[in-house]
Amino acid sequence: MNASATADKHGLAAGNAQPPSADWTIDQGWSNYSAAEHATWKTLFERQSRLLPGRACDEFVSGMKELPLRHDEIPNFEQLSDVLEKRSGWRVVAVPGLVPDEVFFDHLAHRRFPAGQFIRRPDQLDYLEEPDVFHDVFGHVPMLMHPVMAEFIQAYGQGGLRARQEGVLDLLARVYWYTVEFGLVQQRDGLRIYGAGIVSSATESVFSLEDASPNRIGFVLERVMRTRYRIDDFQESYFVLDNLEQLLALAHTDFDPVYARVQREPTLVPGDVLPTDRVLTRGSGRYHAAKRAQEKT
Ligand SMILES: [Fe+2]
Repeated sequence: MNASATADKHGLAAGNAQPPSADWTIDQGWSNYSAAEHATWKTLFERQSRLLPGRACDEFVSGMKELPLRHDEIPNFEQLSDVLEKRSGWRVVAVPGLVPDEVFFDHLAHRRFPAGQFIRRPDQLDYLEEPDVFHDVFGHVPMLMHPVMAEFIQAYGQGGLRARQEGVLDLLARVYWYTVEFGLVQQRDGLRIYGAGIVSSATESVFSLEDASPNRIGFVLERVMRTRYRIDDFQESYFVLDNLEQLLALAHTDFDPVYARVQREPTLVPGDVLPTDRVLTRGSGRYHAAKRAQEKT
């Protein structure tokens, strides 16, 4: 599974930690990374680079090409940010791990992307609970070069601050989860990945596109807002945009009436398929059924 920056997880996981500064940022301390830490980056980077051609969307690929990301070392956030800022106004700031919701949203609302300063241990290549530098930088930053994603995530930060006050953060967090983290998009030659949680995971890059188990369903805002998600395993359903421009429309949507409607509807579990869904792939559900059977024994 992928560590992913979700609204609720930020608050829960960060509950007992002491803030290092008012906005939770720290110095990246780039020169302090060990050779072993750079080697972990290299392993992850090279593995994903082999998997992503023909799987990642065009915008991810071009963002990746234009950023000063090297295969053999953890990127320096300052150098990375100088290129990113010229393109989309975003900068990457280092944080020790998960940060409280309001801090996270405030950063996003000001086009600062908080990235975990640490890198996972070599025995955690495929699983970690908190987003590290590989998930946050490799997964998210190439898409932040794209003006649509740049605007969408800023709007998400602004919307997050409001949703928190209105008590509807769980609804908004589902939108982030099924787009920014686990989104798929239809491109001219087939389905492609744009979600950071997928694109930074070797196993889910393949599972999300090629496995017969998950559902792949056309993205509809209210449908997604009603749908719970899994934080500890592959998704049971992926939601597919017709194109990335849909995110721009979402960034300019007033969510208040949508929250009101969604709150009157029953919540859906991750594997549900509705008669009203535009189903691209009806999943067999085999992967998660096997997991559930295993858990019972
Ligand atoms: Fe993330």
